[in-house]
Amino acid sequence: MSEPAILKVSQLRKAFDSRSGFLGRKAKLHALDGISFEVQAGEAYGLVGESGCGKSTAGRALLRLIEPDSGEVEFKGQSVISASKRRLRELRRHIQMIFQDPYASLNPKQLVGDLLAEPLKVHRIVSDAEIPERVASLLTSVGLPIEAATKFPHEFSGGQRQRIGIARALALEPEFIVADEAVSALDVSIQAQILLLLQKLQAERNLSFLFITHDLGVLRYFCQRGSVMYLGRLVESGPTRDMLDRPLHPYTQMLREASPSPDPKTARATVKVAGEVPSPLDPPKGCHFHPRCPKAMPHCREVYPEMREVEPGRHVACHLHDPSVMGEQMEGN
Ligand SMILES: Nc1ncnc2c1ncn2[C@@H]1O[C@H](COP(=O)(O)OP(=O)(O)OP(=O)(O)O)[C@@H](O)[C@H]1O
Ligand code: SF4
Ligand SMILES: [Mg+2]
Repeated sequence: MSEPAILKVSQLRKAFDSRSGFLGRKAKLHALDGISFEVQAGEAYGLVGESGCGKSTAGRALLRLIEPDSGEVEFKGQSVISASKRRLRELRRHIQMIFQDPYASLNPKQLVGDLLAEPLKVHRIVSDAEIPERVASLLTSVGLPIEAATKFPHEFSGGQRQRIGIARALALEPEFIVADEAVSALDVSIQAQILLLLQKLQAERNLSFLFITHDLGVLRYFCQRGSVMYLGRLVESGPTRDMLDRPLHPYTQMLREASPSPDPKTARATVKVAGEVPSPLDPPKGCHFHPRCPKAMPHCREVYPEMREVEPGRHVACHLHDPSVMGEQMEGN
């Protein structure tokens, strides 16, 4: 039997109030439309998809940085959704976030040493006397010199600042990190260095990740398993290598074709696919992907395909992989 998941997300939903159309009528934008996945301890789980598909909303909703409308999130078997404020604060110590732009989350007027000391003090991780030693060890663990403590964030390069952001996230000794486009803003060579650092930390500390990216090269390199998102829903989940080498969903196939090189050192395999993503304010009826899908059938315009396990550990939401639908289609022809 497999280990229980460290993070279990079930049917998570979040809609934003928005305005649509010429008259600007009130409408609901379903940024997250019932997503479910599980992350195992020590695993890096990827969420990939085009801009606006709901990746960041997923990362923030599972920590309740934005309140989801419904669904469940369990961290080590305990509900995050029904946690009291006190319990939520405690849970957020164990689940840290790192962002695309660490500079935005680092106080530019604070010395790096103080930035790292602050969470140690607030959460009483170590005694005051032990703080300088802990700050030094955090800097060393992310590959920065100890002298970095006496400088300001603006004195560092983008890659070094991301290292500071990672050190700050590590200060609270988390078990889980939500990384939202953590390497997207960096040059390809720096990207590779930060990914190597995260891999080292993952192994040393048995860290688990939800790794949000729009880059298939990064997904393949860093994540053992993951999901492809489209308009607020998951369309395919499974081991990343299987998904990318042998995609089952036509959308994953299109993403794959749009990003030919799997090597993050040689290519920015950024997701850019033919056709427009429909507005999440007014998603197409049936399978949301049908207007862009080269394999769409009449049934696809009417009925949304549910996620089904089609091979051990591989799930896909596409009628092509549902024998009952395909049987009917054959009979209809
Ligand atoms: N606070 C908000 N109010 C209204 N709409 C929002 C809000 N936050 C996100 N959205 C909308 O929800 C949808 C999903 O946004 P989200 O930021 O989660 O996408 P994403 O996949 O992270 O995109 P990107 O790759 O560009 O970061 C988008 O249509 C976005 O415009
Ligand atoms: S359900 Fe139909 S439209 Fe949707 S991805 Fe599958 S074949 Fe394409
Ligand atoms: Mg985002």
